[in-house]
Amino acid sequence: MTNTNDNENLLRAEGIDKAYQLGQRNIPVLRNVCLTVASRQTLAITGPSGAGKTTLLHVLSGLDRPSAGRVYHRNNDVYAMSPSRRTGWRARDVGFIFQTYHLLPELTILENVMLPIVAAGGRMNDAARERSIGMLDRVGLAERLDHTPSTLSGGEQQRAAIARALINDPEIVFADEPTGNLDTATGENILRCLLDMAGHAKRALIMVTHNPDIADRCSRRFHLVDGILSEAF
Ligand SMILES: Nc1ncnc2c1ncn2[C@@H]1O[C@H](COP(=O)(O)OP(=O)(O)OP(=O)(O)O)[C@@H](O)[C@H]1O
Ligand SMILES: [Mg+2]
Repeated sequence: MTNTNDNENLLRAEGIDKAYQLGQRNIPVLRNVCLTVASRQTLAITGPSGAGKTTLLHVLSGLDRPSAGRVYHRNNDVYAMSPSRRTGWRARDVGFIFQTYHLLPELTILENVMLPIVAAGGRMNDAARERSIGMLDRVGLAERLDHTPSTLSGGEQQRAAIARALINDPEIVFADEPTGNLDTATGENILRCLLDMAGHAKRALIMVTHNPDIADRCSRRFHLVDGILSEAF
């Protein structure tokens, strides 16, 4: 593992266990996951369906509290923050591209992309609008600004979700199979965009993928099986 000083350590997870409670049943999903992510690193996480990949991204990004263990962003304990502080941190510093997009159905995609600007304390003004249009242009959706998600194809919704995740230039981007629904050329564009972004100082990308060629282009590769995370060297 790359060893870096604390300034470069963006994210650190220690002893993460996660179990879901379903009625009387306790379903263990993550077991003692430990991970340190430094600036400029791109991580690929592969593993079979149901292994816990999405759950891991949710826990690392402040969306889902672990059953045990801690997650730190630059030495700040993410789950020790008040809910409102954690929400602000997520809006500013975290981008999340969901496996199922999670666009708000009643808003246009331009409004969807502008939303994190407001969530991070910015104004819904002309500058925010211009910035959002520029980001949608980068993912090839400049002609679709006024569409609501249900009037877009799956791949277009995915690209809108990617624009929304990157609009605040977050330090850490989590991507749950971000190119799963895209054709080869569009997927390649999006992948380049994500890898370029993470290549900048103070940025990192943590991506779930089923595609071994994509995993090979990341700087670190992990495999998750039955909730146990191991790095491939
Ligand atoms: N809210 C929940 N309550 C109970 N069990 C859950 C819940 N969410 C997920 N699980 C279970 O946890 C396990 C891991 O789910 P997760 O979505 O993290 O898998 P995954 O590795 O992302 O799979 P895929 O490749 O299919 O997306 C699965 O067995 C799932 O059924
Ligand atoms: Mg998943």
